[in-house]
Amino acid sequence: TVGRIICILIGYAIGLFQTGYIYGKTQHIDIREHGSGNAGTTNTLRTLGFKAGAITFAGDCGKAILAIFISWLIFHAQYPEGIKLLGMYAGLGAVLGHNYPFYMKFKGGKGIACTTGVILAFHWQMAPLCIGLFIVVVLLTQYVSLGSILLVSVFFIELLLFGQTGHLPVADTYLPEIYVLGGIFTLMAIWRHRANIKRLLSGTENKLNLFKKK
Ligand code: G3P
Repeated sequence: TVGRIICILIGYAIGLFQTGYIYGKTQHIDIREHGSGNAGTTNTLRTLGFKAGAITFAGDCGKAILAIFISWLIFHAQYPEGIKLLGMYAGLGAVLGHNYPFYMKFKGGKGIACTTGVILAFHWQMAPLCIGLFIVVVLLTQYVSLGSILLVSVFFIELLLFGQTGHLPVADTYLPEIYVLGGIFTLMAIWRHRANIKRLLSGTENKLNLFKKK
């Protein structure tokens, strides 16, 4: 349990690095005062263009991978059996730090780039379907939020399927805990997208036109 708490705290500390917000500051804006008001990849792309969005994605996805890597460095020798589970806790911490940074009045991002990093670092074989579906949905509908909600939902479904068929890199005893963690990632993402979901249902959600020049 101590290991789990330490991993969440390490993840939270690393997740506090708000790439989009910091990049916005270098351009003299608070990204949260523009577009959707969110401090994430989509809104940085929407507000500041492709390069800014790519940097934000790399930073926010990378920090989850970094958090998981650090948990591995610290604990892999001590807990070789449970290291993947601890990585999930570090990843969850990173998403919490990203979504709820204390120094920004807990107003951060929605955790999708970060969760993509968690998927890649936890079991990369799960990523192509999540990312592929995300890309298809965003290209077809231009609703990034819809793609995001599907991405985390598919992650959860894949955890259940891969777990049941013995394809997850964790011991069977940890599977229930992994499922709960996967459910938390998904519920948190849906919760953070609640305003988007309302707009999707009322047909007023922002569309992201990737081919429109900024
Ligand atoms: O990952 C965030 C995305 O799903 C929605 O972003 O800025 O349109 O609320 P935004």
